[in-house]
Amino acid sequence: MTGFASRDERAAFIAGLPKAELHLHIEGSLEPEMMFALAQRGNVKLAFDSVEAIRAAYEFANLQDFLDIYYQGMAVLLTEQDFFDLTAAYLTRAAADAVRHVEIFFDPQGHTARGVPMANVIGGIARALAEAEERGVTSRLILCFLRHLSEDDAQATLDAALPFLPLIHGVGLDSSEVGHPPEKFARVFARARDLGLKIVAHAGEEGPPDYVWQALDVLKVDRIDHGNRALEDAALVSRIVTDGLTLTVCPLSNLKLCVVDDLTRHPLRRMLQAGLKATVNSDDPAYFGGYVNANFLAVADALDLTREEIVTLARNSFTGSFLPLAQQAAHLAAIEAYAAGH
Ligand code: ADE
Ligand code: ZN
Repeated sequence: MTGFASRDERAAFIAGLPKAELHLHIEGSLEPEMMFALAQRGNVKLAFDSVEAIRAAYEFANLQDFLDIYYQGMAVLLTEQDFFDLTAAYLTRAAADAVRHVEIFFDPQGHTARGVPMANVIGGIARALAEAEERGVTSRLILCFLRHLSEDDAQATLDAALPFLPLIHGVGLDSSEVGHPPEKFARVFARARDLGLKIVAHAGEEGPPDYVWQALDVLKVDRIDHGNRALEDAALVSRIVTDGLTLTVCPLSNLKLCVVDDLTRHPLRRMLQAGLKATVNSDDPAYFGGYVNANFLAVADALDLTREEIVTLARNSFTGSFLPLAQQAAHLAAIEAYAAGH
């Protein structure tokens, strides 16, 4: 155990370490208890008859297995209040993990396709984010396009989001990766860039290194979500290092979705050693068994991460964020002060 007297000491260090979370699908923070409560409130029929039955169904062989259940779960989200309650619950959990800044994904097409107005979705999420800001947790909102749907559908979704543009900081790309390369969405991402939005994309989670190249060269991403399979291509790694792009890595997600067969073989340390700016994130914490500190702890235990590596991951979470540099600097100073005192 490098830099810590015990596992408990490492856990305590992680628990209080100031950090940002940059890869969190708000619909993936829907805990089974809230799913049940919202189903009752909205009179929605669930395929499961208990919280235990829901949790028992969370065994996934791959990304698609998970997505099938994830889209079913979000059917309980109907009203502005539902989206507010979901987001407020996540922000409470995040604050308990010493998260000072969050960049949250949402999947509007998972809701508008069911007849839920965009105003309910963005209104509820944004109201919870504004309340959290008063308690000192800052945020950015990132609208994701579902890549298993058409580019025309993504364009219509961007149209529907235009009235809410001041609340949206960036666009992303998620859902079933293999068979849906970034180039399928070249035009809608070009339009988003012209609107001044930041660009991120899930790439190299299950998809090949070529999809990561496309995210860089076609979508012109500001950050890469996951990026695990970039390590298969040395030229791609150098390109990401040269461009200084951050990877939002999600250890427990990778384990639950069989992207890695064991956390002791997780590529996080190799990413850091290659000079990649990796961060640790929870992805869909209600489905994958833990929020951000649980992700830090699980991967730190499995790889025996050093104190310095853990601090680097926390620093990367702020330097890879879309916060202005002055705010990043204040968070970096808080990390140094915390590390000096612990
Ligand atoms: N949507 C929610 N979580 C996702 C993930 N890990 N990959 C792709 N799409 C997602
Ligand atoms: Zn994700």
